[in-house]
Amino acid sequence: LYKAFIFDLDGVLVDTAKYHFNAWSRLANSLGFDFTEQQNEELKGISRIDSLKKILKWGNQEVNEENELNRLANIKNTWYIEMIEKMTPDEILPGVYDFLVLSQKEGIKIALGSASKNAEIILKRTGITHFFDAIVDGNLVKKSKPDPEVFIKAQQLLKVKIQECVVFEDAQAGIDAAKAVSMKVVGIGLPSNLTGADMVTPDLENWTPDKLIAKI
Ligand code: BG6
Ligand code: MG
Repeated sequence: LYKAFIFDLDGVLVDTAKYHFNAWSRLANSLGFDFTEQQNEELKGISRIDSLKKILKWGNQEVNEENELNRLANIKNTWYIEMIEKMTPDEILPGVYDFLVLSQKEGIKIALGSASKNAEIILKRTGITHFFDAIVDGNLVKKSKPDPEVFIKAQQLLKVKIQECVVFEDAQAGIDAAKAVSMKVVGIGLPSNLTGADMVTPDLENWTPDKLIAKI
């Protein structure tokens, strides 16, 4: 029935939200304001430029010029890259590594479906690149989640049907993207933040692909 798993990256395979928060906070501080960790939750799953626009709004900063928006996003990204370049395999989230091993063993095709343009370096630093049959990241898509483009691209590259895919997501924008094309979706996190998921679990610890598939 299910032949392919499509994993979001940030918040599903690795915990990079703290690095995004650190780098965005640094940028906000340099512009003379601050924002909270709770506000940071709203940035999950959202593209880099959309995140920047939200943050600037929180700080009542008016920036419309595209060059200036890109300049600020690049500054943040330079700081972010400095941090993710130091990531290690220890930073893979609980249960993820074993779940990837089991999925691969059972012949399930594995894809990445992420908004991040830094996916390649994160997969490499954490040592999990080799699990992926297809990698679709922010460099390959035009429309960001909740648009389903990223998951459709992954499904096409894996050469499976939509109804054969299961998406793993930690952000509401990602759940909505999967549901826009009626893909099954496993929410990673708290049920209150993940409306519409077919099932929700705090992490992938103690799950086998079979056990999980039986629940959706
Ligand atoms: C998503 C994150 O996976 O990628 C967002 O949840 C982030 O917080 C987005 O803004 C884009 O990431 P990057 O690495 O291209 O800035
Ligand atoms: Mg995510």
